[in-house]
Amino acid sequence: CGITACIGADDSVDSIMDGLQRLEYRGYDSAGIAVKDQSGISLTKRVGEVSELVAAVEQNPISGNYGIGHTRWATHGGVTDGNAHPHTDESGNVAVVHNGIISNYQSLRSELESKGHTFSSETDTEVVPHLIEENLRNGATPDEAFRAAIGSLSGSYAIAAIIGDEQAIYATRSGSPLVLGVGDGEFFLASDVPAFIQHTQRVVYLHDGDFVVTRPDGYTITDSAGRSVDRPVEYIEWDPETATKGGYEHYMYKEINEQPGALRRTTQGRLNTHTGGVELDEFPPGMFSDVEQVHLIAMGTSHHAGMYAASLLNARGIPAYAFMSGEYSVVNPPVTENTLVVAVSQSGETADTLDAVRRARASGARTLAMTNVVGSSITRECDDEMLLRAGPEIGVAATKTFSSQVTALALLSERIAEDIKGTRSPDARTLMEALARLPGDVQEILDTSMAREIAIEYQDSDAYFFIGRGPAHPVALEGALKFKEISYEHAEGFAASELKHGPLALVTPVTPVFAIFTGHEDEATLSNMKEVQARGAPVIAVTNERSSEVVEFADHVLTIPETHPEVAGILANVQLQLVAYHAAKLLERPIDKPRNLAKCVTVE
Ligand code: G6P
Repeated sequence: CGITACIGADDSVDSIMDGLQRLEYRGYDSAGIAVKDQSGISLTKRVGEVSELVAAVEQNPISGNYGIGHTRWATHGGVTDGNAHPHTDESGNVAVVHNGIISNYQSLRSELESKGHTFSSETDTEVVPHLIEENLRNGATPDEAFRAAIGSLSGSYAIAAIIGDEQAIYATRSGSPLVLGVGDGEFFLASDVPAFIQHTQRVVYLHDGDFVVTRPDGYTITDSAGRSVDRPVEYIEWDPETATKGGYEHYMYKEINEQPGALRRTTQGRLNTHTGGVELDEFPPGMFSDVEQVHLIAMGTSHHAGMYAASLLNARGIPAYAFMSGEYSVVNPPVTENTLVVAVSQSGETADTLDAVRRARASGARTLAMTNVVGSSITRECDDEMLLRAGPEIGVAATKTFSSQVTALALLSERIAEDIKGTRSPDARTLMEALARLPGDVQEILDTSMAREIAIEYQDSDAYFFIGRGPAHPVALEGALKFKEISYEHAEGFAASELKHGPLALVTPVTPVFAIFTGHEDEATLSNMKEVQARGAPVIAVTNERSSEVVEFADHVLTIPETHPEVAGILANVQLQLVAYHAAKLLERPIDKPRNLAKCVTVE
């Protein structure tokens, strides 16, 4: 879910609505706004995309110089106007927006009902305005009422509230993201920076347990005991244009096209093509010397990057395993203090991954966060961090952050191996040169790709399969994930070796197979390619042109520039991102906001 709030502007409605549109990637099954003026709180909520809310507010205008807004990704209670946020108390004097889950809401609700409160929604959130109301009834000030209400909650939350006639927004976080935007006489609160970047580039990253009160003339941050805490105001470098579509039809397409720049930033100052060395200032020399095994924990696209890294580490003789973070506690793999757990998360807020990090730390492992979001929860939960520097990613389907993750993980893997073995990989220099060339190679694909033609040719297919070996296996999984996420067509990725052990039964003349060649046992993948062709399936090979036999036998080729085999998968993936994008576009899917999915899943 996404929260936004604004105070200090002449009319907060436009700022809040604009913020909601920019946060829509966080969830969009319903949206709502509450603003306050002299006559009280005006509340509007609508099921559907934020555009439905915009239309409703245009029809029945509201105004107020401060207020809160929310875009929802349902967890408790169906998708109805009533369950949309903001939620209010019975008097209509208190309005609250919330991101996260209040795990003890049922007992709180029964207690409040026994005191005469009547609830109008099925949500966990609604207990909050009622708790505040109850405290106000008992004589508390708005500030006391807010703190006391929060004090009785368990679970994870970021919450913003307006209370009574107090010209203020009260907010706090615990386990869900919340940032404060410091403008010129206006202040913003939001789940993520893009919500207010067009108003201010000055940001305070709030910590769990922080309480913020913003008023038209300033803000205060305190801890749960009311003691003042000092949080630095940081300047966000991005140009506000980076957080908008900038002329592209979709964020996803813009972000695919931003990859050369993103990759340049990911590698900047971190590799040396003369020595073949990796230069990661954040990690002192020898820091990984005593690492005995590496666990990579992540979900979704980030998990595919984790699998890719595990294969790079294994190739260097380092025991490495990739786990879905949601499974990590269940699998419960043995961990020692010499286990390095690398948590890969674009947002740094994925609940499953945060949970896995906590379990790893509790077992004594060392933890390292790899994320794109400065100040995100994961950076606080882990011992160390490495930033992707890919720039903001708004499209729900992750694209540029995957390329940056794999690139950053390639650097990290080489560095870990160097620390452990005391020597660089024999071809470290070629690898560094390939990584340095990567932005140009990606640009070449963007300029010449035939992905759209392939998408057109196979638009009437029944299903789409993706196969690869070694690091090309996670690329196959990622190719299929992207395809299904945004086109809603059936797509599956397999290890090429797995094909003949079951999935081959699904292969027919109407199931195109994308075969990814990255120089890992290409001969064997070629045999698999011929096996599916023998069943009538068309094959689209993703390969460099040197593989003449592959080019000769494939029905179509998506070409990638020749490079180091450990980098080839990143290039192959760019071709597959483009295929998925064009296929979804032909089907007129809502590419940036696929149904049922959210960019950042802050619930387990
Ligand atoms: C959600 C998103 C995916 C993403 C996954 C992990 O499911 O829809 O695109 O890969 O979360 O997100 P993270 O921010 O931890 O990388």
